[in-house]
Parts: sequence; structure tokens; C-alpha cells
Amino acid sequence: MPIISAPHEYHEEDLYVDLAGVLGTSLYLKCEGLNFAGSIKLKTARSLVEAAEASGVLGPGGIIVESSSGNLGVALSIIAASKGYGFLCVTDPRCNDSTRQLMAALGTEVHTVREPAADGGYLGARLRYVEQLCALDSRYVWLNQYTSPANADAHYRWTAPAIAARFTDLDVLFVGAGTTGTLMGCARYFKEHRPGVTVVAVDAVGSVTFGGPALPRMIPGLGAGVRPPLLDASYVDDVVHVDEADTVKACHRLARGGFLFGGSTGTVISGATRWLAQAGDGRDIVAVAIAPDLGERYLDSVYCPDWVEKTYGPDMLTTNLEESPLISMSVV
Ligand SMILES: Cc1ncc(COP(=O)(O)O)c(C=O)c1O
Repeated sequence: MPIISAPHEYHEEDLYVDLAGVLGTSLYLKCEGLNFAGSIKLKTARSLVEAAEASGVLGPGGIIVESSSGNLGVALSIIAASKGYGFLCVTDPRCNDSTRQLMAALGTEVHTVREPAADGGYLGARLRYVEQLCALDSRYVWLNQYTSPANADAHYRWTAPAIAARFTDLDVLFVGAGTTGTLMGCARYFKEHRPGVTVVAVDAVGSVTFGGPALPRMIPGLGAGVRPPLLDASYVDDVVHVDEADTVKACHRLARGGFLFGGSTGTVISGATRWLAQAGDGRDIVAVAIAPDLGERYLDSVYCPDWVEKTYGPDMLTTNLEESPLISMSVV
């Protein structure tokens, strides 16, 4: 049994849910939400902070500033509180209220950008705001999850090797794309160490990451209004785009089986099940998908019937919870 003295010292790295019973498709879901930050972003935050400390830009008296749609903000709040740094998080209206409250409870100053930028949406507006802050006060240290190699390194060092060790016969790995830190860290690891593994990126319809047109998106975590600088698409074997309505249906399907996962997990599961249905040629495919967080932060959105009806139209949850046919799938 682990005994820890700092919150970021604990992360459950070895829990998988076999979804065959819930989905009727063989798929193992790696659960990344079991730590004090409640998401995979604890590893990203730890890696970003340790890299900034090692390079000397972050030290005693430093104030971390970062743009986050929520989960990285919570993870950095925990680490900043534990290490005695200040933290200012720049977010946007898609950040859940409970996530905002969580950050504030940990002593973080939360600034919410209300207007999306004409080019780059809310993410573009958040990045501009952070740049302005840093120009005003030299104590601010921008870790910059969108460009720092330490983001992908966290998953190259920890996430991917854990999957590779547990699934020596892995065929396919499904990874959601936000900053693409998780995707690039895992994809680089598997290309170098297990090149037979197919790495499939799962993105939201309306995200520009893989070249699609920008459209409004309501669920935080996956997708981007600005192409992620960390992305090197040559490491990615395939891309699936998932409509947000299908994300919500997948979340509710899992919930009916007793598993309450976050919005981006619904996206990844929806994309993975449809990719597997198309790829299925009778052979048993060993497939793993990454679940970045759990569902409690989404009670006022994905799991709130009024919000779902207002956002995606009436009857969505009372009709068939099967998702629609594959929106798009392309070999990069
Ligand atoms: C819930 C959730 N899913 C997915 C992601 C995307 O992960 P990454 O930024 O590594 O692409 C994030 C990142 O913020 C997240 O919070």
C-alpha cells in the first residue's frame, strides 16, 4: 500500500475496464482518473513543473500561469499548493463550475476569458491573455502545455510503457487529441518500441487539429481551435472524428453499465467502437483506449438532461443510444 507525503506522488497506472460486457466489443479502457487531480493531467502537470524547475525558470516565489480547459488547471493547482508556488489559471466558459471551484479551493486565481478570438476561438483568446499577463509581470512563469516537450514526455515516460507492459499483444491504441501531448507521447513510444501497434487519434468534429473546419464545441478536453504545435501527424496511423452528440450517447451507455466517465472518454469510446467495427475482419483485435478522467465533473453538462436537450436538441437521450455512422476516418 503506497504511503505518500505529496499529492502528486500517487497515480493509479494499472487499472483497465474490460468493456466487452457494456459495448459488445472487446476494448480495454485505461482509467487515468484515479489520483488526487482526478485526471491524466496530473502526469502532464508534474512533468511540466519538473522541467521548469530543472531549467531554472521556476523557483521559490514563482507564479505559474497556464491556459487550461480545466483538468490541467486542477492538477497544477494541486502541485502548486503542495510546492508553495502561486498559480493563475486562464480558462473559458466551457470549464465546468465544479472544476473552477476546485481550483479556487486549492488557492488558485482563476481568470475566465469570455470572448472567443475571431481566429482561434476560446483557445486563441486564452493564449493571447496569458501572453499579455506575462508581459505585465516577470514573476509569471508560463509552462505552456501546448508547446512544451515535457507535456508529451510525461506519456512517453509513464503512460505508454505502462500500456506496453500490460498488453504485450496490443494491436491498436486509441488516444484522444487535445494538446496532443498524450497522443504524441504514446505514438512516439510505440513507433520506437512496438512499431506493429496501430495508433489511432480520436478528435471532436469541429476541431481543426487534423485539418477540419472549426465549429462550435461544448465539451472540454478534446479538440482544438488552433492546430496543436506538438502534433506530428506522421506518428499517427489513423484519425477518427466524433460528433459531440455521439460523445454524450457513449457516456450515457457507459453510465447505464455503472461506469461514469468524463466527456472525452465518451468521444474516445465512440470513435474506437466504430473504428473496430469497420476494421473487424473476424480476427480478435487487442485494443486499448485511454480514459482521461471520470464523470463527476460533468454532472451539470454531459449528465444533465436539460443541458443535453438545450445543447443537442430534444429526445436525444430518450431515443436509441447507439451512435451515428462513422463521421470520418482517414489515414494520415
Ligand atoms: C478530460 C480530458 N480529455 C482529454 C484531454 C486531452 O489530452 P491532451 O491534452 O494530452 O491531448 C484533456 C486535456 O486537457 C482532458 O482534460
